[in-house]
Parts: sequence; structure tokens; C-alpha cells
Amino acid sequence: AEARSAGASIGLVPTMGALHEGHGSLIRAACAENDYVVVSNFVNPTQFGPNEDLDAYPRDLAGDCRLAREIGAQAVFAPAVEEMYPSGTSATWVEVEGRLTSILCARSRPGHFRGVTTVVAKLFNIVGPCRAYFGQKDGQQAQVAARMVRDLFMPVEIRIMPIVREADGLALSSRNAYLNPEERTAALILSTALKGAEELMANGERNRGRIISFIVEEIEKEPLGSLDYAEIYSFPDLEELPETIEGSIFIAVALKFGRARLIDNLVVNL
Ligand code: PAF
Repeated sequence: AEARSAGASIGLVPTMGALHEGHGSLIRAACAENDYVVVSNFVNPTQFGPNEDLDAYPRDLAGDCRLAREIGAQAVFAPAVEEMYPSGTSATWVEVEGRLTSILCARSRPGHFRGVTTVVAKLFNIVGPCRAYFGQKDGQQAQVAARMVRDLFMPVEIRIMPIVREADGLALSSRNAYLNPEERTAALILSTALKGAEELMANGERNRGRIISFIVEEIEKEPLGSLDYAEIYSFPDLEELPETIEGSIFIAVALKFGRARLIDNLVVNL
């Protein structure tokens, strides 16, 4: 509040902690574009399903604070569950309805996006940011947050930053910590299948079904992974596309490796 009333611009980087260089890139962008940067660090129970990894989710508050400070953030906001949900749950929910929250991750994680938008709305109300930073890695989440802000006229600019990858192509994710060495090698199939699809399109392929089949076949060559989805939609609205695709498109994949569920995506302009 002091920073805001002194006229400072406030940037918020909402995270669930276990920060990696993907988060680092968001914090760096926030520091470059705002006077005062808050990194929130809260593993939000309402966005996890009953059989998901809430209890196992990696936590390292001390390491996260170090990284946030090194990059230049002014504050880390790490509330307890009781602070964010004082009555144990929320009587008020913020929910983006419609196809944006019915496809892709919404199918395998019912209620997930309602939990995300509710906690992000709470964080916006607490921190009062001018800008909030999301990663394109969670591309559907970023569009859901943008839609919430548009529909509710929230005075926050949503900034979406590019996916950060390991040298071999694996998209950075806190959930990569769940992978054993064999699964870590196998998980490369997400980015290589997407890259293969990108090459197909660069060589002129425009048939949606054939591109999806290519990705599915590539992924199924990897026995350690089990495919959740491989889908193609328009970008950024994530609308259905005709069989022949053109314009800006979003290709998204999700796979399970043991207890890790990993997602990756690619935006291509055709
Ligand atoms: O992407 C995440 O880490 C979470 O979904 C978010 C945006 C911090 C909300 O809990």
C-alpha cells in the first residue's frame, strides 16, 4: 500500500513456490516493467483434485525467497492456507465458464480452473498489482486468467511470458522434480513430439487430424508415458478449428509419467 500510494507500479508474480528459471524469467520481466515486485508463494488447495499431488507438491520457501531477492523482487507473500481460506473454504468462487474451462486440462482436472481463478482474484485483491505475470507453459491457465480480468474489468494487465526449457528441450516445471532418471529421459517426448509437429507444418502440413495423429504416434512410442491429451485449437481464444488449419494455432499436450502429470505446448503462426 505504501509503494502504491507513493505512485510505484506494482508487479505480481503468482507462484506455488518451488521456483525454477521459468519463474525466474517471470520475476525478471516483472522487475523490468514495475517499480515494486511481489512474488506470491502459495500452494493453493482449491485447485487440486482429491487424488492429486497437493501434499507431495515440492516446497522450498527459503530457497524461493533467496531466488526472488537475488532477481530483485521486493517482497514474497507466502500466506498460510488459513489466511487465504479463513473459514476452511470459500463461500465465494470466481469461475470462468464455457469452453475455455471445459477443454484440455479442465477435462482431467475438474474444478481446477475455478480454484485457480478464485485464488488469483484473492491475490489481486490483496496485492493490488498493475501487472501480473503468467507463463505460457500453462497456456490455458494464462488465457483463463486473461478472460477473468477482461470479464470482471479487473485493473490488472496480464503479461504472458515464453516457455523456458532445459537445454534438451524439456519445459521447466516444478513437477519435473517427481521424475526418476528414466522418466526424465522419457519426458523429452513432449517437446520432441511438438517439435516434430512444427517441422511437419513448416513442410506444408495443414491437416489438423494428421498433425494430431503424428503427435499421438510419437508419444505412444514412449512406453513410460501415458497420454492425457494432444489437441489443436486457435490461439489465443482456444476455439475449435476446421480440419485445414491456418492463422495462429495452439498445440497442447499432457502426459503422465508415474505420479507426474506434465504439460507442454506450442504456438505456431501458419
Ligand atoms: O501456475 C501456478 O503456479 C498456479 O496455478 C497459480 C497461478 C499461482 C495459482 O495458484
